[in-house]
Parts: sequence; structure tokens; C-alpha cells
Amino acid sequence: MSEKFRWGVIGCGQIAPKFFQALENTGEGGVVAAASKSMHRAKRLQKKVGIEHVYGSYEEMLEREKLDAVYIATSHNFHYENAKLCLNYGLPVLIEKAFTRNQKEAEEVVDLAGQKNLFCMEAMWTRFNPATVKIRELIAEGAIGEVKHLKADFCVKMQPSIKTMPWNRMYSPRLAGGALLDLGVYSIAYAQMVFGQRPVRVSSSTQMAWTGVDKTSEYHFEYPGGRRADLSSSFVEERPRVAVITGTRGIIRVPHFPGADQLTITRPGRAPETIECEPNGFEHEIREVHRCLREGRIESPIMPLNETVEIMRTMDALRAQWGMKYPGE
Ligand SMILES: NC(=O)c1ccc[n+]([C@@H]2O[C@H](COP(=O)([O-])OP(=O)(O)OC[C@H]3O[C@@H](n4cnc5c(N)ncnc54)[C@H](OP(=O)(O)O)[C@@H]3O)[C@@H](O)[C@H]2O)c1
Repeated sequence: MSEKFRWGVIGCGQIAPKFFQALENTGEGGVVAAASKSMHRAKRLQKKVGIEHVYGSYEEMLEREKLDAVYIATSHNFHYENAKLCLNYGLPVLIEKAFTRNQKEAEEVVDLAGQKNLFCMEAMWTRFNPATVKIRELIAEGAIGEVKHLKADFCVKMQPSIKTMPWNRMYSPRLAGGALLDLGVYSIAYAQMVFGQRPVRVSSSTQMAWTGVDKTSEYHFEYPGGRRADLSSSFVEERPRVAVITGTRGIIRVPHFPGADQLTITRPGRAPETIECEPNGFEHEIREVHRCLREGRIESPIMPLNETVEIMRTMDALRAQWGMKYPGE
């Protein structure tokens, strides 16, 4: 392992520069190379952030560069093949959400990482934000009693022009688009964290975009003991991105839960208490990857792979209710 972590990036799209900057901010490593299917995209990223080496082929980057880890930042449909490629080159991977298109692909990636004894994690950055860490602590110490209910909406209006929709990452079935895999995955991961298990019953309703992916959906999860989660995702309507966790002895409200810096806890007979936390950002998840690599761990105890697989299983169940399949599934 190098003194500073040497990262490669696969996928030179919109999120790649954000990762590049966050990694720089950690002071623990840097992106030394990036690869795209298109040399033009790779060079555009290089111009924007100043990466040393860029490639128009993933394999060429993996062969020529001495890397400690690879960040996979392609559209959802490619995560499975990109992750397997890197693992087969003997490299640890941080894979953007949604981890893969479905549970089966997720299990194959997880199995391969296990066989190769290599670190693998879903880039569920929200899980590592200080406010989220604080929420886990509060729940674990019983600050709001037993959690009975979660409400979490992730609905953002972002309408591309109708002409470009079939090629847009969000709208394209071929690219495994849809609001569920793009935004709903955060709410579902939140529910998985709050309840510590997958739901035993799932019901839902959805509206589909003309391209064949979900654009607005509501889903209701049931857990043993009458506990419930009511979640939604949309990329055609805007809703407050608030999470409300209701326990038997109090309520935690998290404004803008995917990137929270603050939370408010309300308990009977006490004034509401607002807790300010350190700023959110990709830096926290990146430091976790580095910590795991230094300690020789092949998965993070904070975002373990079995949870990623459960999240994919829940999303498969929702898509099955909607009769929604991606091409080639
Ligand atoms: N954590 C977050 O806050 C956050 C925010 C936004 C997105 N994301 C996740 O990050 C990943 C990438 O998102 P993005 O917004 O960066 O996506 P993007 O800019 O649309 O595309 C990323 C890359 O995916 C491949 N790709 C996209 N559309 C393609 C097409 N039509 N044909 C062939 N390849 C295509 C390309 O890879 P190559 O360059 O290698 O060819 C492209 O550079 C997704 O998993 C997304 O869910 C995370």
C-alpha cells in the first residue's frame, strides 16, 4: 500500500469531479488516473480537475497504473461488469449507488470480492455523514425508545428535455434509470439502517415515465412488531427531503436527510434539542474506505455488503410489483 492512496476512477461523468475533490480534501490520497469509454470524456475530466493520466479504455488503465482502489462512477447498468473487471485485476472497489441493477448481480459482485479477498463497498456516502452517525448513536442508546416509524422522501424535480430522455441516465431503461435506483435507494438504505433489517412486507404504487422507468413512487414497508416505513422517490416532483424517525419515547427530525448537517430531537416534557453536526460530504465515506484498507478489512462494518444486497432485494421486490424490468434482465 502506498503512503497516500492511489485511486483510479472508472466513468468520467458528472459525479467523478466531486469524488476527485473530496479525495483531495481528505489529504489521504488522490485520483492518479481515470478511464472512460470515450477518450473525449476522459480528457474533459482531466481538463476540469487535472488528473495525471486518462485513458479511453478501462483495461488499459488497470494494466498500466499502480492503483490501491477504484471508484466506479458509471451509470447503474455498468456497475456489475465494471466491478467484476476491477476485482479480477485484483483491485478493491468503491461502487456508486445503486450498487448494481438487481440482487443477483449484487450477490455475484459480493461473492467475487469475497473469493478474491478484496475490499468492496457501495458508495452510500450518506451513511458516513456525521449527522447520520449521531442518529445511529441516539437510536442505539435508546434516546427515542424503540423506533416505530420512519418517513423519508427523496423527491427532486429534474426534467431533461423530452428529446434527450431516452439517453438520459435517469430516464433510460438501458442505463438502469428510474427514481427508485437513483434516489429511492437512499431512503431504502436509511430504512435498512434505522430498522436493522429488510421489511417483511412491501406495498407500493408508481407512475412510469414514457421511457419505461419509474418517475414517482410511494412505498410502504412493514417490519415485525408493527413497525413501518413510508418512503417515496420522484424526479418529477419536489418534496421536502425530510426524514422523521418516530420512537416510543421521542422523535428525530432530519431536514434534508441525504446530506444532513443537523437534526432535532423532540422528547415528551423536554424542549426540542437541535444538534448541529460537522458538514456532510464524500470525505467521510472515503476515509472509511482508507481505514478499512489500512486494517486489511474486506468490507465496512458501517455499510456492510449484506445490507447492500438486502437493499437490492427490496428494490427488486418493488420493481416486480411495477412489472418493471431492465433490458437484458
Ligand atoms: N453520491 C451521489 O451524490 C451521486 C450523485 C449523482 C450520481 N451518483 C451516482 O454516480 C453514478 C454516475 O452518475 P453521473 O451523474 O456521474 O452519471 P453520468 O454523468 O450520466 O454518467 C457517468 C458515466 O456513465 C457512463 N454513461 C452514462 N451514460 C451513458 C450512455 N448513454 N452510454 C454509455 N455510457 C454512459 C459513462 O461512462 P464512461 O465515461 O466510462 O464511458 C459516463 O461518463 C451513478 O451510479 C449515480 O447514481 C451519485
